[in-house]
Amino acid sequence: MRVGLKHWLMGCLVGVSFQGLAAAEVVPKAEALLRLDRPLVIAHRGYSSAAPENTLPAFALALEAEADLVELDYHHSKDQVLTVVHDGTLDRTTDAVRRWGTGTNRVSQASFARMRELDASSWRGSNQPPATIPSLVEALDLIQARSVTLIERKAGPAEACVRLIRDRREVNQVVVQSFDWQYLEDYHRLEPSQVLGALGPWKSYRGVALTEQDQSLSGRWIDEARRVGARVVVWNQNLDATAVALAHQRGMKVWVYTIDDPADMSRLLDLGIDGLITNNPGRAWRAMAERRGRR
Ligand code: G3P
Ligand code: CA
Repeated sequence: MRVGLKHWLMGCLVGVSFQGLAAAEVVPKAEALLRLDRPLVIAHRGYSSAAPENTLPAFALALEAEADLVELDYHHSKDQVLTVVHDGTLDRTTDAVRRWGTGTNRVSQASFARMRELDASSWRGSNQPPATIPSLVEALDLIQARSVTLIERKAGPAEACVRLIRDRREVNQVVVQSFDWQYLEDYHRLEPSQVLGALGPWKSYRGVALTEQDQSLSGRWIDEARRVGARVVVWNQNLDATAVALAHQRGMKVWVYTIDDPADMSRLLDLGIDGLITNNPGRAWRAMAERRGRR
């Protein structure tokens, strides 16, 4: 029953008794998602199987699909605008190379106004809706009205994102995640209540490659994620039911990326995971419905 969530999130009133009077606790949207007793559907870079990743059309489709969270990535532009794009360069997902030349066109070396001239859509084909690179503010304006943004920081200090979210009065109305756990620790120090996701696994540690075994979700990863202030471990498929149960015992949620195959979805749901990050949220809803039908 997925539609009920939206109504629940809008209200999110938990009754508490205070000196005989009925008071109410308003649960922020990020907290409310952690309390749900079903897996979450999380649209990776928007509904990116159907529209260009990390653009407003992809986010709008994810909202239509009623994704619980809409994931995006941000970097800082040269003039310090938090800019929604996955790569550190503009070359893969825009026409920067054609327009600006074949050098490496770094996000951090371009002003936001200049990046705004770029076409962020046609690399996916001529049948796509037109799109430009959005700022994080524009993406939040769209997504937050109907869902919860899963903000992945790719570059830049925690202070900038903390300030932006605080100014918008959206602390815990979003979830923030990163592969950089020092960033998470900094964010947690500045905004201790914010729900944070610790992305892993890392491929290497201090320059030494980690083995497949090292990279699998374990008590050590879970404890370190907790130590830096995360409430969710956000992992790839390198995990098993024992690790998921351990995370739950330690009060952590487990979200898994990036899962588009229905058989993988079904297998991971059987492990007890709490969220599917997918390029195809419609397919994830179907996998969840089919699984309920089998039980
Ligand atoms: O949300 C998890 C996922 O986005 C991490 O990988 O490279 O797609 O940002 P990536
Ligand atoms: Ca991401």
